[in-house]
Order: sequence, then C-alpha cells, then structure tokens
Amino acid sequence: MGKRPLMMVPGPVDCPPEVLKALGEQPLYPRNPQFIASFRRVLQGLREVFGASDGQPVLMNGGGLLAMEVACANFMEPDTHVVILNSGFFGDQLLRVAKCYSQNVTMLEAQLGERVALDKVRKHLDSSECHVLAVSHVDTESGVKADLKDLAEIAQKKGALTIVDAVASVGGEHIEQTEWGVDVCFASTQKALACPPGLALLMLGPRALQRLNSRTTPPAMVYQNLQLWIDSMQSYEKEETPRLVSTQATNLIAALDVALELIRQEGLELRIQRHEQIASHIREGVIALGLELVPKHSAYYANTVTTMYSPDKIHASSVVEQMLQNGVRIATGLGPRREELLRIGHMGITTLTDAITTLAALKRVLEEL
Ligand SMILES: Cc1ncc(COP(=O)(O)O)c(C=O)c1O
Repeated sequence: MGKRPLMMVPGPVDCPPEVLKALGEQPLYPRNPQFIASFRRVLQGLREVFGASDGQPVLMNGGGLLAMEVACANFMEPDTHVVILNSGFFGDQLLRVAKCYSQNVTMLEAQLGERVALDKVRKHLDSSECHVLAVSHVDTESGVKADLKDLAEIAQKKGALTIVDAVASVGGEHIEQTEWGVDVCFASTQKALACPPGLALLMLGPRALQRLNSRTTPPAMVYQNLQLWIDSMQSYEKEETPRLVSTQATNLIAALDVALELIRQEGLELRIQRHEQIASHIREGVIALGLELVPKHSAYYANTVTTMYSPDKIHASSVVEQMLQNGVRIATGLGPRREELLRIGHMGITTLTDAITTLAALKRVLEEL
C-alpha cells in the first residue's frame, strides 16, 4: 500500500492514535459498569461540546443523515409549518428529509456563497406560520456559516423551534446551544470531533423536550423514536441497569469517550481558536494563489472547511487528482456543482503544518495545470 495522503477533506477526518486504539479493543458488554461509566462521560462530554449544560444528549448508531432524519421525524408532523434556510447542498438535504414528515415546508434559499439575510427571515416569520426553523450551522458544500445566535433569537420570538445541523461544526466552531436558545442540534462523529464515522448525535434543549411531549400523533417508528432513546440515555445516566433500544456501537462509544477527553485536555476554547487560525491561514493562502473563495463575506467564513471555485475551465476532479499525486487529499464540490468547487477540510487534529503542506501542494498543482 502506498503512503497515505494527508487528509484535508471535510470528513471523515484522521483520528488521533488514542482514539483508534479504543476501536481495536474487545467490545464491552453494554451493561458492564466500565461501559456505563464511559457512556456517562460521553453524554456529559457532548453537553460540553454543544454548549448545552441543560441539554438532553441522545446518541445512536448511524451518522449525520440519520440524526437529521430523527430530528425531522420527531419534531415535524404533517401539519407542522417548517422553514428551511438554505446555503448549499445540506440545505437541500434538510428540505428533502423535512418534506417526508411535513406537508408545509417552505425554503428560503440564498445564492451560492451567501446566507439568507436576517431581515428576510424576520419578515417571513412575521408574515407566515412557522413552528420549526431549520438550518445548517456550516454548510459543508458552500463553506458558509450561519448566524445561529441571531436566528435562534428570531425563532424564539415567533415561538418556533430551531433545529440545527451541526455536523460540520461541533468541536470546531463556537456553539452555545443553551445560551443562544437553540432547541435541537444534531451532528456526527467523523468531523471536528476527530472520531471515526458511525454515531448519530443529538442534543435536545428543554423546549424541544416539551414539544416532543405535545405531539398530536405518536411517532410511528421504533428505531427513530426519540422518546425511547431519551429513556435509554436517562437510564444510563441515572440507573444501575440501563435500558437499551438497540445494541450500542460500544467500540465507537469508547473511541468517542477518548476523543472527547482529548478535546477536554486541549480545552474547547483553545481548540476552536486553533481551528480559526488554521482556517484563516488556508483562506489567505488560497486567495494568494489567485483562487476565489465561495463565501462572499468574512462573517460567513467557517473554521472547519474552506470552499473555493476551481480555476477557470479546470474540472475540480482534475485538481483533486493532481493534489493526490502531491500527497494531499482535498475534495471536489457536491451534487450539480461537483466540478465547479474545491473544498479543503481543516478540522479535528489538523495542524498549521498540514495547512502549509496543503497550500504548497496546491501551488505546485496550479502551476502545472
Ligand atoms: C453539514 C452536513 N450535514 C449532514 C451530513 C451528513 O452526514 P453523514 O454523511 O454522516 O450522514 C454531512 C456530511 O458530510 C454534512 O457535512
């Protein structure tokens, strides 16, 4: 096998060796006291990374799309009025999923590189019904970051629940779920948490828990039924004999336990600052190489991913291929804009040296193309 390239994609990211070691151990019995203790630490660690001191964490086997579907399936009913803010591919995905559960979904869409203006959101919510406002914190296609704090405030004034896709942000972006009043955040493990893929993470605030209890119809599903998972999570935190919904991916949970401990050791604030510094270095380098960033304003820049237009008339996949020849894996765009955009992921354990190596490779590739 050839040398593994430097992974600069927006997930899955490389993991620290300590995290990988936890994956290779024998699986623990889910009611073993050692596993229960580890699971409790994980649930508490999730509250820390989501900034959700009063949050109810839920963790199930799956990934980001499952977490999105669980959020939609549980907080949307056919007559729920849902407004989706779309800044890229993952807004489209939210729309597709929401439409499976609600017959009243409206999408406010921004041009590529923009976000939906707060005034537009305010006006829309003033003039129409809205029970749920859903948005991606960082859209991993466009690299645009949403102004979550302001959006949550607007939604709260309207009495609407905020559902946030934090898949590409938690662990690398500042999130204060409790303070900002974000009701539901969901994520997965393979991005800024620097853990392998395979777990769906949800964090529910107090209003979300009330909303679950006031559904007019009970959810017609088993694996995705949040009430069952909440009961299981609470039994893990409060009781000696936990109740399971389905056998937990115990090795992944052990790995997440280690990943969260490493975040604690680094310090969440310092980790976010590291992400900020690396992102800023990458952006400056990309601009210096003559490429155009996708996000139109600095307030939209994400810490975890940088997106840019592929050079004129050059397919993104050719740049990615050449980058691989130079030892660095970056990503093309997604969906219809696959060949137009290039995406560099810089989250988890990425270092400034990795950023410098990536920019040097990109410089060589652009000179050769
Ligand atoms: C913002 C965002 N949401 C959702 C997902 C879907 O996550 P998964 O691939 O784990 O299902 C991704 C994956 O890249 C993502 O970046």
